Amino acid sequence: MTSNPKKFPIGATFGIQAPSGMMVEGFEDATHPAIPTQKDYVFKNEHLRDVLAYLSNPHGDALYLTGPTGSGKTSLICQIAARLNWPVQQVTCHGRLELNDLTGQFMLVNGSMSYVHGSLSQAVRDGHLLILNEIDLMDPSELAGLNDIIEGQPLVIPQNGGEVIKVHPKFRMIATGNSAGQGDQSGLYQGVMQQNLAFMDRFRLMEVGYPEASIEKSILQSVLTSMGVSYDTVMENLTEKMIQVANEIRRLFVGGTDGSGELSITMSTRTLLRWTNLMIAYKRAPNALAYSLDRALTMRAEPAQREAIHRIAQDIFGDAWGV
Ligand SMILES: Nc1ncnc2c1ncn2[C@@H]1O[C@H](COP(=O)(O)OP(=O)(O)OP(=O)(O)O)[C@@H](O)[C@H]1O
Ligand SMILES: [Mg+2]
Repeated sequence: MTSNPKKFPIGATFGIQAPSGMMVEGFEDATHPAIPTQKDYVFKNEHLRDVLAYLSNPHGDALYLTGPTGSGKTSLICQIAARLNWPVQQVTCHGRLELNDLTGQFMLVNGSMSYVHGSLSQAVRDGHLLILNEIDLMDPSELAGLNDIIEGQPLVIPQNGGEVIKVHPKFRMIATGNSAGQGDQSGLYQGVMQQNLAFMDRFRLMEVGYPEASIEKSILQSVLTSMGVSYDTVMENLTEKMIQVANEIRRLFVGGTDGSGELSITMSTRTLLRWTNLMIAYKRAPNALAYSLDRALTMRAEPAQREAIHRIAQDIFGDAWGV
């Protein structure tokens, strides 16, 4: 069961500029084991507004976050839930996942078989947030079974003698995917399936692209500070250049909008963070920047693309590259 509701001030809770009277409802009890662990996260006002509006008032919708890999979709939802003490059931979808896997299954409990609720049933029953990651990898005919629940109709489990679970008023369903439900136009995301129109019609949509440079700079600053690295002007300069490299790679990536499609891999925020972590770990290696860039990203690129990416970095870093 969820605990008593509690109002949180938006500005202080999420570290953004907001009028002091602006509040959002979460839960009092911070000890529920399904509440995600709180980590540093730099919130963008616009994204925060959309998610909080949905959590406060879903109006019979689910929420769909679409965007390229490693842009911060899953972590945005988890980190909001962590700050509002909202318990989360999280599932990563795949092509063979069935709705039954989400409702539950019979298991041996204390010597006898009993039906144990899965993530969907628990979330519906207790008012948790159900996060369906990579929902577009799932078979659309399986997902159609969620239509009624999104609209607030009870979950019926025929396998458990027709058990009926009423939808808890705090139940929310949020999906993430690299496509927007229309199949993958870029050819880069293996296994993405075109989703059913009636299913997609039940979602509010949000687009989460890679953060702008100023936000990415704050993310890197907070990661470096938490690693005990002092964020002086040298470090600031370095991170600015790393972000420039990432943005140039993104521009040339085939999935980008204005690039000419010269690269088939890109640098996500996830990879940029990995590059930063490795750069610190290998700081004594000769040419730590290039060495860590290889290990963070370019070793999985074709040789010509690897060279091209290193050339981009060399142009941006100038003399600092190679020391
Ligand atoms: N605004 C942010 N503040 C702090 N960390 C961030 C931010 N955005 C992304 N990250 C970090 O980037 C990494 C990738 O984020 P996440 O897993 O949420 O991406 P995703 O969009 O769900 O990717 P995928 O489509 O591959 O599932 C995480 O380690 C996350 O902490
Ligand atoms: Mg994700």
